[in-house]
Amino acid sequence: MSEARREAYERCLMKILNVCGGESDQVALMASVVGVLKNEFSDFYWVGFYRLIAGELVIGPYQGTVGCLRIELNRGVCGAAARTGVAQIVPDVHQFPGHIACDPRSQSEIVLPVRNREGVLIAVLDIDSTQRGAFSGLDRKHLEEILGRIFGS
Ligand code: SME
Repeated sequence: MSEARREAYERCLMKILNVCGGESDQVALMASVVGVLKNEFSDFYWVGFYRLIAGELVIGPYQGTVGCLRIELNRGVCGAAARTGVAQIVPDVHQFPGHIACDPRSQSEIVLPVRNREGVLIAVLDIDSTQRGAFSGLDRKHLEEILGRIFGS
C-alpha cells in the first residue's frame, strides 16, 4: 500500500517536472501540480492552493467542489500551516478547533506551506479526503519534495 503510494508520488514528480520545465509563472505551476495530483490519486477529493496575498489566503488554482474564497491566517488548517510554516496533517477535521468546513464530505486533510526560492511563504497546498486518516508522514515527505522542486529551486 505505502509502496504503491510512494510509486504514485514518484510518477507525479516526474510528470510535474516534465510539464513545468522552463515555466516561471506561479499560477501555471500551481495549476499543473493540482492537475497531476488530482488525476493520480483517486482518494484526493479536493486539491488546491491558497495564495498568500496581502496577508490573507486567497483560493486558487484548485480542483474539487467550490471552496472558501479567502481564509484569514488565524483561521482553519490552512491558516495554521501559513502561520506556523509547518505542514499540518489532520486525521479527523471534526477534532481540529476552527476547521473551516467548505465541504462537509471532507474528513481529513493535509496542508503544506509553499515557499519560493528565497524561502518566503507564497501559498499553502491543501489536500482533502473523504476518508478519515487518509494522510501520513509519507504524503508529507513526497509533497514537500514536489513543492520544493517546483517552487523552491
Ligand atoms: N480545510 C480548510 C478550508 C479550505 S477547504 O477545505 C477547501 C481549512 O480548514 O483551512
